[in-house]
Amino acid sequence: MSPFRDEACAFCHLPYAGFSGPIPSVNLTMVAYPGSFHFRAGKRTAQRYTYSPDFPVLEYNAVQGLFFGGNFWDARATGYELQSPDSEQAQHPPVDTGEMMFPDTACIAFRLQSAAYKTLFEEVWGDSLDIRFPHDTEEICDTPGGNFPTATPIELTPQDRAKANDVYNHWGQSISKFERSLRVSAFSSKFDAFLVGNYTMTSEEMAGYKLFDGKGNCNSCHLDGRSTLCTAQQYGCSTTSSSLTDTGTKALVRPVFTCFGYANEGLPLNPRVAIYYETTPDFFGFTQNPLGFGYRDLGLGTFLRSGPGSATNPNSTWTQFAPSVDGQMQVATARDVALTPPQCPTTEAPGPYFQKEFFHGGYIKSLKQLVHFYNTRDVFPFPVTSGHCPAGTTEKVNCWPEPEVPNNIDMTTGNLMLSDTEENQIVTFLQTLTDGFTTPYPDINTFTGQCMSGGTAATQGNELLIPTPPLPPCATAICDVAPTPGPSPIP
Ligand code: HEC
Ligand code: HEC
Repeated sequence: MSPFRDEACAFCHLPYAGFSGPIPSVNLTMVAYPGSFHFRAGKRTAQRYTYSPDFPVLEYNAVQGLFFGGNFWDARATGYELQSPDSEQAQHPPVDTGEMMFPDTACIAFRLQSAAYKTLFEEVWGDSLDIRFPHDTEEICDTPGGNFPTATPIELTPQDRAKANDVYNHWGQSISKFERSLRVSAFSSKFDAFLVGNYTMTSEEMAGYKLFDGKGNCNSCHLDGRSTLCTAQQYGCSTTSSSLTDTGTKALVRPVFTCFGYANEGLPLNPRVAIYYETTPDFFGFTQNPLGFGYRDLGLGTFLRSGPGSATNPNSTWTQFAPSVDGQMQVATARDVALTPPQCPTTEAPGPYFQKEFFHGGYIKSLKQLVHFYNTRDVFPFPVTSGHCPAGTTEKVNCWPEPEVPNNIDMTTGNLMLSDTEENQIVTFLQTLTDGFTTPYPDINTFTGQCMSGGTAATQGNELLIPTPPLPPCATAICDVAPTPGPSPIP
């Protein structure tokens, strides 16, 4: 399903990485994965799509002033039309100029006409694939999108367009059904076994679990079905003891470790991301990012303004809320974050480890760093961009560069007062969320690359940090669209 027939969803999402980015060198460097025309790439990490069908249709909760539901880091697959964000999510990559790149959604039906599973598709959905495509359809579908004058360059009769649209919808729904199945969202982790009394956690795992629910305050966003033992709201549970014990009974037996909400965790801009360098026309005359380093990732805020790199916000009454959600990204499930190929048993140096990338911009390279970030973001803040930490400090250890988006920063974490051991215990707990413990995870055995080894998890990947160039102001197409970001200007 791509112009050059070289890119499936699996190019960027493979089982052995928990269906996130499967290529260690990409995770370590350019963050975004190349598209069907390999000299183009996008702007964010390939999200794990385990449990993504659980996200409800995007809605604004007026009482809380928060958005819930939707798929993608920025919620742009809302579920508005198909009442399933995940089904609508699957419809984006085939026509994303940085991914599978079809210039017209009807290319899906066109390619399905000659697919091996054509009859099966017709049988399941009752669709008819006898659409009369014009003679130039092959040529159109073999050309990457971006430069066609319309989004529907294939000329179809209204009847045939309607059929192609039905096929496009059903194709998305089929993929979502797969993602919901036990082959992907398996509920087969140690933690699931623990919930039914079939696994006893080690003391380290149990300590991490208590910290996840308590001093770490993780459970207030990555819901695990237990009470959140944190009371201090400004800074997690930093003022209370670490020996908080939940004496209640589990309230939910299929927790997905997300509240389906959005938050700005204050991640710095990662100058490694491919998008910043795609500033001139490529072979097909298309410029993926004319804004260069003027591009800023405002996440949900950019989506509500229907801004660059996102999609059209279907609800204009939501646009007014953009300044209150700038910088917010999806509270991703914590499940399967530690899933790796069997021959590289961990994500953590010294390994042997499988190099992953974490958070929307891939700035974090190990789970140790991820927990250390939540723990010390506000302990070691420096008014610098990535690559410019002062002499005598080490980036990600005792220097955190300034956030890309300084507004709406979540202050319930950032100074958790966790010890080094406690951080490690939370990492150990996160590893109990890896599927494949009670039953083998399907198709996990396909990694043909090398494991990495050496170094420490605290500084993993630091040798590839590059200095952020002096940043031009945030582009007008992003930051000057009403209602503009505030109260702080985006640096
Ligand atoms: C070129 C790499 C690439 C390809 C190909 C690709 N994806 Fe993704 N996927 C990503 C990236 C990057 C994101 C996050 C994008 C964002 O938030 O802007 C993502 C996000 C997702 C999500 C959102 C998960 C969530 O919890 O919200 C799902 C589901 C998903 N992809 C499924 C698919 C499917 C299905 C296909 C094929 C139709 C596909 N992807 C093709 C890179 C890719
Ligand atoms: C206020 C809500 C909130 C709290 C509290 C919170 N998180 Fe998160 N978490 C998020 C958001 C939002 C993201 C995505 C952030 C991004 O990419 O910019 C995320 C992402 C993650 C991920 C997935 C990263 C990836 O790349 O897929 C993990 C794992 C995680 N958090 C673990 C934790 C742990 C451990 C704690 C406690 C120390 C914690 N979180 C506390 C909101 C929260």
